[in-house]
Amino acid sequence: MTTTLPPTHRALVLDQIGQPLRVETRPRPQITPGTAILRVLTTGLLSYSREIYSGSRKYSLPTPSVPGNGAIGRIVAVGPDATTLQPGDLVFVDIYIRGRDDPTVAALSGVHDGHTVFSRRMMHSEWRDSTYAEYARFPLENCYALNEKRLLGSPSEGGLGYTVEDLLYLAVQLVPFGGLRAIGVDMCDRVIVSPATGAFGSTAVQVALAMGASVIAMGRNTETLEKVRGFFGAAYGEDRIQTVPITNNVEQEVAGLSRFGEADVFFDISPPEAAGSSHVKSAIMSLRHSGRACFMGGQREDLGIPTFYLMRRNLTVKGKWMYERGDVVKLIQMVEAGILKLGQEGGARTVGRFPLEKWQEALDVAAERAGPGERVVFNP
Ligand SMILES: NC(=O)c1ccc[n+]([C@@H]2O[C@H](COP(=O)([O-])OP(=O)(O)OC[C@H]3O[C@@H](n4cnc5c(N)ncnc54)[C@H](OP(=O)(O)O)[C@@H]3O)[C@@H](O)[C@H]2O)c1
Repeated sequence: MTTTLPPTHRALVLDQIGQPLRVETRPRPQITPGTAILRVLTTGLLSYSREIYSGSRKYSLPTPSVPGNGAIGRIVAVGPDATTLQPGDLVFVDIYIRGRDDPTVAALSGVHDGHTVFSRRMMHSEWRDSTYAEYARFPLENCYALNEKRLLGSPSEGGLGYTVEDLLYLAVQLVPFGGLRAIGVDMCDRVIVSPATGAFGSTAVQVALAMGASVIAMGRNTETLEKVRGFFGAAYGEDRIQTVPITNNVEQEVAGLSRFGEADVFFDISPPEAAGSSHVKSAIMSLRHSGRACFMGGQREDLGIPTFYLMRRNLTVKGKWMYERGDVVKLIQMVEAGILKLGQEGGARTVGRFPLEKWQEALDVAAERAGPGERVVFNP
């Protein structure tokens, strides 16, 4: 089931962590059983992609390899064992790759080769190349067909009127959705999101609101915090989102949080540099009896968790890396149903759009424009 494809394609190559990337013309990926080949239409960058490839954020990746991130692509070929996927399908490409013989083994294609010898074995062979290329090969199960007519169609014909780049926001929404679902966030839960001013944190606010919860958003930057509140308050109801600044004064933060009553859930999505931030302690101390906390942040140091509160209030603490397959399916359903918005209505927009050759500029803009809804993309 293949169409005529060019024998070569252009890809961004990471020869070694810490070395400059370069664009190379190389043989196009070949179809094998269990895989799909897609033409990459658009693929995103993280605010910390530059730190990953420069080595300052100690992530491990196979080299040489094609780095990458979540993408929207069009399938051009599928392996002989494909069932429903077929050439021509518009798909969301999920970079969270799991072992087929052991799904607890996982890694992020183009971002991180995982935390075990087994994940490295998986990523250093079959799946070493990711999406910063014209063509990419991915496991069939990582390609999720999208309802193109509904998502990209014009509103006058029952479509949602999104652009292909708008669809990339799925990759951002999925991260907090995985964590919020893992601790069973439900209608009317009161959820503390912190920090809520970054790319994933602000999206966690949107996703929690769309799941029917109300949100208390915490952050150091009160101006950005107010922007998040203003935007999502207008979209989901002003009384459903409140803010409390991170002041690194636990007493002050707990007093601020208590104004809104006890919280059901605390969702942490801190970057490594937030290790030691007071918000973890303050948020845990503000949870009700039997409350839940989910840690998705990347802090490397141990956090100051007040265990006395965990014990006395029967709190549940859960860590979460990424999300489950069922979460991806459910999130796409929510977006296609119009319950969870993308594009301007979802507070997201493209602030930088680059060809592969402009990789340095793309990495710089992504680092500088980290924040709510601001997206930088490669359109290979
Ligand atoms: N578990 C998972 O599956 C998963 C997946 C993806 C990412 N992550 C983690 O999520 C982290 C956040 O990603 P992102 O893309 O949202 O990053 P980002 O856009 O760079 O946002 C970082 C956020 O952290 C805040 N912050 C920075 N330093 C802080 C400090 N010292 N104290 C308190 N807040 C501080 C920033 O607020 P200011 O505006 O005040 O600077 C901003 O809100 C990543 O670094 C990664 O470790 C986890």
